[in-house]
Amino acid sequence: KNIEHGEIKAKCSSNIALVKYWGKFDMQLPANPSISYTLTESFTETTIKFKKSDNFSVKLYLDNQIQEGFASKIYTYFRSIKKYLPFIDNYSYTIHTKNSFPHSSGIASSASGFGALALCLMNMSELLGESNTKEFKLTKASFLARLGSGSACRSIYKGLVVWGKSPDIISCSDLYAIPFPYEISPIFKEIQDTILLVHEGNKQVSSSIGHSLMKEHPYATSRFKQASKNLSEICKIIQSGDLEIFGEIVEHEALTLHAMMMTSSPPYILIKPNTLAIINKVWKFRQDSKSHLYFTLDAGANIHLLYPEREKGVINSFIKNDLIKYTENGNLISDRVLF
Ligand code: PMV
Repeated sequence: KNIEHGEIKAKCSSNIALVKYWGKFDMQLPANPSISYTLTESFTETTIKFKKSDNFSVKLYLDNQIQEGFASKIYTYFRSIKKYLPFIDNYSYTIHTKNSFPHSSGIASSASGFGALALCLMNMSELLGESNTKEFKLTKASFLARLGSGSACRSIYKGLVVWGKSPDIISCSDLYAIPFPYEISPIFKEIQDTILLVHEGNKQVSSSIGHSLMKEHPYATSRFKQASKNLSEICKIIQSGDLEIFGEIVEHEALTLHAMMMTSSPPYILIKPNTLAIINKVWKFRQDSKSHLYFTLDAGANIHLLYPEREKGVINSFIKNDLIKYTENGNLISDRVLF
């Protein structure tokens, strides 16, 4: 269809990886498979106004403030996906985007941001006359989101999401993510994620540098092997319902991610003293209370606390009484997983 101008919207949640994607090849192809939970309260909402134009351009507002740096990134991204969306450079774009979480919080907005953008573009292609099945639309959105930020491809789906080839899941792909294709034990459908904001503000080393440091990393080969093995294990556990082994793998993955950073050349450290203080408190609390409280980390100092909803009461008191003092200004986000 020949449409002169229009507006599309999309919303996409952030995700937290259980088995981490860390290391990639060209075209954002992952060095190992990963699995994540898509969150609920941490999301990005994006509106794009488009107008027919001979001068393809992108303007971007984050929380109503113009962002030149982001706009030029998105411009490059749009150009890079033109082969999959041929209409893209016939228009000029004004993008308004906002996150439900403060953008200085250290919570990565690239997954929800590129997820929302990719969904907007699929909505736009439909507005322009393309007709897709829902399944194809989501697969292509995941494929496009991956080209923006690898982990963004997992944010397209709710619940548990897998990305990357694995011998245990035949429908898996390096090109896009898929919803976890097997039965999920009920305990894994009621997971809460309390995110403790230990360090707000930008991290010193970006994820893309981190990924590229895996190329020459002395432990890369064994790390990629271990991630594949952990993915196989966790797939079985999600079906059988063993929370303790789940927690063991998830915490090990988080510490390994940061160990990779610390042993890169050059090395770097993103966790803070308060991150370690919280980890030690969580371990002690678990020993004393037998609660199913586990931590994970993304590429930053903040801590994600994962636990089943049925243990919310005691765990929330523990967070309030013993952990909140380690956060910056008492900041936390109470999130959860929805299926
Ligand atoms: O999607 P990127 O390139 O920002 O990489 C993110 C990697 C981690 O968040 C650290 C792990 C993951 O699997 O999400």
